[in-house]
Amino acid sequence: MTRAFQFNPGFQLGVATAAAQIEGGKVDSNWFHFSEIPGAILDGSHVKRANQHWELYEEDIALLNELGIKHYRMSLDWARIEPEEGVFDEAALERYRTEIQKMCDLGIHVFLTFHHFSHPQWFEKKGAFLHYENVDAFLRYVEKSLHYVADLVSDYCTVNEPNVYAVNTYFFGEWMRYKKSLRNTLQMMNVFIALHIRTYELIHQFRKERGYTNTRVSFAHHVRHFTPATSWPHDQWGARLLSFLFQEGLFRASAKGEFSYPFKNLANAEKGQYIDFISLNYYSRGATRCFQDITLSDVPKNDLGWEIYPEGLIEEARRCYALLPLPIVVSENGCCDNEDLFRPRYIYDHLRLMTKSELPFEAYYHWCFLDNFEWAVGELARFGLVHCDYETQKRTLKKSAHFYAQMIRDHGVTESSYAAYVEPCRYHRDEVNIVRDYEVD
Ligand code: BGC
Repeated sequence: MTRAFQFNPGFQLGVATAAAQIEGGKVDSNWFHFSEIPGAILDGSHVKRANQHWELYEEDIALLNELGIKHYRMSLDWARIEPEEGVFDEAALERYRTEIQKMCDLGIHVFLTFHHFSHPQWFEKKGAFLHYENVDAFLRYVEKSLHYVADLVSDYCTVNEPNVYAVNTYFFGEWMRYKKSLRNTLQMMNVFIALHIRTYELIHQFRKERGYTNTRVSFAHHVRHFTPATSWPHDQWGARLLSFLFQEGLFRASAKGEFSYPFKNLANAEKGQYIDFISLNYYSRGATRCFQDITLSDVPKNDLGWEIYPEGLIEEARRCYALLPLPIVVSENGCCDNEDLFRPRYIYDHLRLMTKSELPFEAYYHWCFLDNFEWAVGELARFGLVHCDYETQKRTLKKSAHFYAQMIRDHGVTESSYAAYVEPCRYHRDEVNIVRDYEVD
């Protein structure tokens, strides 16, 4: 059987990052304050270190260029831009503009996210995304930022994974350490839906007034593939319910203005179209035991114990496409593989299925460009194509980075690159889980 394949003409390969996960520095943000709480971050690391990208961004852009990467998803850190309510830091905005300009000069296309899990602490104190009236502050920040970047960037993501942020904060009570509350989880999702729709309209209007006709906006929708753990009816209901609450209901409301219980139309949006492309972040499959989300045993897993199930990406993309047939961008896909033992296979397996499918996939952004601060897990989990030694901040290309660069050059995978990079890779089964290893230490 041939292992080689070619991407469709025009298909784009890029990499993704998020500001708070790579920039480092003393920034008055929710994640800075959360990192200060003893025990909040699994390995005791702090968001203030990360990759020092704020200072080292030119080195990182040079690496992108060396690898031939022409598509880069990044985010702005609102906490840097508006450190005090109503007070904007023009130098921070200029610095973001310079970074983006440098990429444009090298022909690197930027896909820009306005909220990727981090925001100013003053906003957190106001209740962040629990209150609809707080959306105005977000819109003000977006508009201010557009003055600095709108001429350089045409593709935008309003908000990254509203479902993940809401669930980790209020359903599991893990991020920011609030009391668990299903009510607040849903409320936050509702505010995010309204925020997305209003930001979508704002970005379009802003660029239209300045004569740009190529604006494309979406939100990065985290899709998990839910499957019933057994054929028992309650496991099947569990899969349907989780899939609706976490994904389909949120997608219908945010993308089309179609609301059904328990989603609420806080912005009084009309039915319509509020995305210009489908933007999906996909990592793993979850098995439902009643309404619990578990991981099956004896399946391939990454170092955090997440199942590797490439078919799930296609199935979830198909569902979204059935709801709204638009071009599909995989805005994140990747794996925690601390030794870089199986990442090339993970990438290959997902891209191969995407290429073979009937769906209009137009781009793939690998998560992540660099090993980075993995939220509450800290520096323990390495998702990068590029290794980072956090002590020295030295960047080293991993084997997967070379594979990625080769795929970009070949616009696909050749037999020889398959043999060199993918063939030697093996997935783990149950024996590896870095969180467990860490607890044993
Ligand atoms: C998030 C990233 C995160 C990645 C791996 C995604 O849900 O958008 O910020 O690092 O998953 O956990």
